[in-house]
Amino acid sequence: MRFSESRLACAPTTHPRATKQPRTVVSPSEPAETPLGLSAMLAATSTPSRSMLRAPTLRALLRRPAAPAASTPAFHGPRGSRFMCAASEGGRSVTTVDPNAKKARKKMIDLQPPKGTRDFAPEEMRVRTWLFGHFRDVARSFGFDEFDAPVLESEELYVRKAGEEITQQLYNFSDKGDRRVALRPELTPSFARLILQQGKSLALPAKWFAIGQCWRYERMTRGRRREHYQWNMDIVGVEGVEAEAELLAAITTFFAKIGITSGDVGIKVSSRKVLQAVLSRFDVSEENFAPVCVVVDKIEKLPRPKIVEELEGLGVAESAIEGILGAMELKTVEDLEALLGADAEAVVDLRTLFSHAEAYGYADWLVFDASVVRGLSYYTGVVFEGFDRAGELRAICGGGRYDKLLGALGGEDRPMVGFGFGDAVIMELVNDKGLLPSRLKTGSVDDLVYPMSESLRSPAMQIAAKLRAAGRSVDLVLEGGKKPKWAFKHAERSGAERVVLLGEKEWENGNVRVKNLATREETDVKPEDLC
Ligand code: HAM
Repeated sequence: MRFSESRLACAPTTHPRATKQPRTVVSPSEPAETPLGLSAMLAATSTPSRSMLRAPTLRALLRRPAAPAASTPAFHGPRGSRFMCAASEGGRSVTTVDPNAKKARKKMIDLQPPKGTRDFAPEEMRVRTWLFGHFRDVARSFGFDEFDAPVLESEELYVRKAGEEITQQLYNFSDKGDRRVALRPELTPSFARLILQQGKSLALPAKWFAIGQCWRYERMTRGRRREHYQWNMDIVGVEGVEAEAELLAAITTFFAKIGITSGDVGIKVSSRKVLQAVLSRFDVSEENFAPVCVVVDKIEKLPRPKIVEELEGLGVAESAIEGILGAMELKTVEDLEALLGADAEAVVDLRTLFSHAEAYGYADWLVFDASVVRGLSYYTGVVFEGFDRAGELRAICGGGRYDKLLGALGGEDRPMVGFGFGDAVIMELVNDKGLLPSRLKTGSVDDLVYPMSESLRSPAMQIAAKLRAAGRSVDLVLEGGKKPKWAFKHAERSGAERVVLLGEKEWENGNVRVKNLATREETDVKPEDLC
């Protein structure tokens, strides 16, 4: 038995008035002999009132058979614990109350959440709601439907052999039923699972979005955490880069909406077909494509000799390595065309995409960069990554085309493309640039209703109810004896627009006083005219 369990089991025997001397009492939640056990227990708990024993516990006690004394093991809590549950006597378990009980109870738990995770107290939650509100608004304005899936998924959904970092960072374990499960590190496999579930009934193209918490046991850096929320938008059933163009339009629309410009942020774009074309020239096998992409993705993070070593480890020939690394240095589509030819799929896709970006009006956000291949194994075509132009932060968002993921999960392949956009890096940028609206510092109620005396509490309640029914958000002062100074301070903290004061004199005249907190104006108003 763990200490916490035993504490629960013994808890009802402790009472604030418990005697300081160790004494033996019966624990009601341990197996007890009835009816003898029950009466003994009631007698023993005479210091705390009998009403402490809640009905279900009593019923449970009456139902339970007596446990043989020897079958209840002795329990000794950790050093300094409040309780020591001694071996049961004649079917009754006994508890010795420690005189130091009060001291032990005061031991403070760790107030921090687990490393790499965050709490969202109201102030942080307002910010999160603001951010997610923009994510949702943009996705909806592009005609996407929202979905969700469990944070806990089957581990097999993430079993991929390309050596991706993400699979090494899994929070995975066996559940109590011995099933291998994992906290999702990303939303795409869950999305693919849902799409497979829909089968042929899915109307195409399907445009879905989600905002969900993801877990990765990652080394913590600025904007990288062990849990983060990701906004995803994905399209199923569109083969052409028109889908990519639409998604990039959504991302840039979002940036613009929160005040980030193409001077602050850019989006690097390339295509895995570049690497594919290079690899096929050097006869590198198909199976090696995804692992090579995973290694090439580390070009900016690792020194060149390490990249060469990892590629050699995959059996890639020296000449091919030279070819790969050379191609990854290309910085213009023209250079790419010179290398692969104008008809190469990668060149055609990228040229079309850049021309669509002109049509939408966001071409200034895009930068061709052949070294962007992305670290996830499933991408097959265009890939992109949002970055801060100051070069201080990790990737802001990333995505691409993954036409073969459904097949890898045992289903029938469909064209798919999407992106993931984390909440952590973007908030670093928002804070650096001071883009957070100041209204988020406080709550956002419309009215504070304040009865200045207890005799006016009933009308105050009626007024609050009426305003709420009219759609206003109303905070009602719940405690008597609050001074006006307190009420106005509280109204400011809640972000109230108005304070509706119920004072004896005004009420006698059939009015309430309304103070507009922005203009500081005060007026007497009839309650029926408040909304
Ligand atoms: P990803 O590049 O691994 O792609 O993650 C997408 C975004 O999630 C990153 O650009 C970053 O904003 C955020 N992110 C990832 N890991 C962390 C972390 N440890 N802490 C904070 N933020 C993080 C994917 O996950 C793909 N499934 C995206 C996708 C959707 N591709 C197609 N559809």
